[in-house]
Amino acid sequence: MDSKIRSLIGKLTLEEKVSLCSGSDFWHTTMIKRLDIPQVMVSDGPCGLRKQNCDDENAGVNDSIKAVCFPAAVNMAASFDVDTVRRVGEAIGDECQAENVATILGPGCNIKRSPLCGRNFEYYSEDPFLSGKMAAAFINGVQSKGVGTSLKHFCANNQEYRRNSYDSRIDERTLREIYLRSFEIAVRESQPWTVMCAYNLVNGVQMSENKRILTDILRNEWGFEGLVMSDWGAVRNRIKGIAAGLDLEMPSSNGAYDSLVIDAVKSGELDEEDLDRCVQRVLEFVFRGIDKHDKDAKWDKEAHHLLARDIADECLVLLKNENKVLPLKNDDHVLFVGGFAKKPRIQGGGSSHINCQSIDSLMMAMQWNSKAIWEEGFSAADDSYDETRFNRAVNAAKDIDKVVICAGLPDSYESEGYDRKHMDLPKVQNDIIDAIASVNDHVIIVLENGSPVTMPWIDKVEGVLETYLCGEGAGVATADALYGKCNPSGRLPETFPLRLEDNPAYIDFSTECSEIDYREGIFTGYRYYTKKKIPVLFPFGFGLSYSTFSYGKMSVDTEKMKDSETVEVTVDVINESSVPGKEVVQLYVEADIPNTKVRRVVRELKGFKKIFLDAKEKKSVSFILDKSAFAYYDTQLGDWYTEPGDYRIEICKDADTVITYKTVNVVPKKPKKTVYDENSIYKDIMEDPAAAKIAKPYFDRYMGDHLAPQNGDESAVEAFGSDPEVYLWDTTLRNALNMSQGVLTYKDMADLIEKLNK
Ligand code: BGC
Repeated sequence: MDSKIRSLIGKLTLEEKVSLCSGSDFWHTTMIKRLDIPQVMVSDGPCGLRKQNCDDENAGVNDSIKAVCFPAAVNMAASFDVDTVRRVGEAIGDECQAENVATILGPGCNIKRSPLCGRNFEYYSEDPFLSGKMAAAFINGVQSKGVGTSLKHFCANNQEYRRNSYDSRIDERTLREIYLRSFEIAVRESQPWTVMCAYNLVNGVQMSENKRILTDILRNEWGFEGLVMSDWGAVRNRIKGIAAGLDLEMPSSNGAYDSLVIDAVKSGELDEEDLDRCVQRVLEFVFRGIDKHDKDAKWDKEAHHLLARDIADECLVLLKNENKVLPLKNDDHVLFVGGFAKKPRIQGGGSSHINCQSIDSLMMAMQWNSKAIWEEGFSAADDSYDETRFNRAVNAAKDIDKVVICAGLPDSYESEGYDRKHMDLPKVQNDIIDAIASVNDHVIIVLENGSPVTMPWIDKVEGVLETYLCGEGAGVATADALYGKCNPSGRLPETFPLRLEDNPAYIDFSTECSEIDYREGIFTGYRYYTKKKIPVLFPFGFGLSYSTFSYGKMSVDTEKMKDSETVEVTVDVINESSVPGKEVVQLYVEADIPNTKVRRVVRELKGFKKIFLDAKEKKSVSFILDKSAFAYYDTQLGDWYTEPGDYRIEICKDADTVITYKTVNVVPKKPKKTVYDENSIYKDIMEDPAAAKIAKPYFDRYMGDHLAPQNGDESAVEAFGSDPEVYLWDTTLRNALNMSQGVLTYKDMADLIEKLNK
């Protein structure tokens, strides 16, 4: 510990220590004037800076300083590009420096368990690898500017309904491989200044009191060195929270718990050392913010607005482009339809809402083109029907080259604080798309939504461009993509199911009970759809381009390895077209172990790289894979473990489409010891060569005269078949003893178990 901090802790009174562990207001830490301990400010993010004026305690969510709204987290993930995300982090870091904000409250890297979570736009993906890498890139960007981040909402906060009190009940393997994993990657790769604990409970324990997750796993296993703060109002029992490693309560609860904590220390219920540890971390956090603050920092609003446009370009996902309807030609007569074309939906609602300085709308971006006309057709604000408006748009669509319909979810459909009720666009929008598609063959849909929607009209339209919630540069970026100035290069960071009912969490999500069982286990998102071979509308990782890419030679630098070693994978990518563009090379790993003892998903994303290829250009892309590409979380070991066997390293177009693969045999550095007991079965023992040798005489004696089918007992053959292996397959060591009619003794079994375990 720093000597300055040690000395301060020595001087603080118990009351002062306790007060330091809560905020002083909504956004500041507590200052102790007597000892010159300053305060620092934190503010919301993460798609921009939402700095509120603290003198106005009642400032509404949308009252904050003017700032730039970058694309939402879902867009960031759709970029499939860590450099893009890092650039946004750096820009927001600059804004925080200039506005004297020590830490931005984000990024959120919770997993999208269902398309209905009201906050999905604020999260990256249904996949923990993609989420973790994106969060790490954002954190590294912000923190490179001397500003902290708060990785949130830790953890298993996957719905909004009853968000303060539901209990996420998750088995250990699923928790480790899915819901903790995105946080683990981010913590290990970026060491955020702070982590924000979530509102909910996990397996019966409130997250703000969850010592196992906040201390044992986060700090002791992953090596987190920063401060843990509560989500706003997530504290239930401050004494338990301090003991669990929750350092800072936010916002201020006006000392509501202070006297309880003081009494607990005095009575010995709470160890003062636990409190001191929290105080130490709060002080480290505060002085870090003060030391890193650059008083002369400024930020350039115009430059950040232009950056927001550039970033938006990277995130657009072209979902359909039949007959090459896109890009549009400058002299096409195009009808634009929808309120969203003039009033784009660029961000989600709630605490991440940015007070934008300026917003590019699509029609504003189309001013250069006199061949572009607009009809409202429907409002962007709600799902109301206006027949006159509706019919005017349909009539205008009849005699025009092409129609671009800007559809999307109105603000009220998705926000922090509540979940979506269904996965559909407002009926008026689906109806107008149908009506226009029946009078014009060249319809293109531009979507503005934070999470998947159903597309009942998908076969009737030629083009679909998913723009998600693309930030304040949305209009220009969308126009550029429609007219080919920008070549779309985003990929879906989540599956678009055909129906909500297909989603693996459908039954257990956002229900009336407050115990939320994660029964689908590790089979979230594409892990489920690929395993069950359920057709989807668009798979995870899907996205088209105006370029045509092909893949050439793939190689691995080893075909056999220990999991303590690494393998380098290289693949050639070629742009076959004359259009320069960016391809996202996706690498998945699939276990190819016929006798696997582990419940397996089909394939998992383990690498991705976005590369630019000029017309006709060819490039090689390489990945280095280590144990984390092959291991699963073994609950018996309480650790990650690589099952020995073959693994297919696959280069894919998306989670459903393998382009090429190579097989590598991987063995664990330290093989897992199987523990045998009375219930060990014949099959398992015989599949372990060493154990089979030891156990064979035991089973031979049992089978000798006593195995009915072998003795030609007709009725036994009829009942069990004549293959002794099949008959025996499931036989435990104790079954053999029980059924051997005295040939085997208890001692025989006990001796065998001892030998097997040696
Ligand atoms: C949200 C956090 C946010 C905090 C402060 C909470 O309700 O869950 O994401 O950072 O408020 O606004």
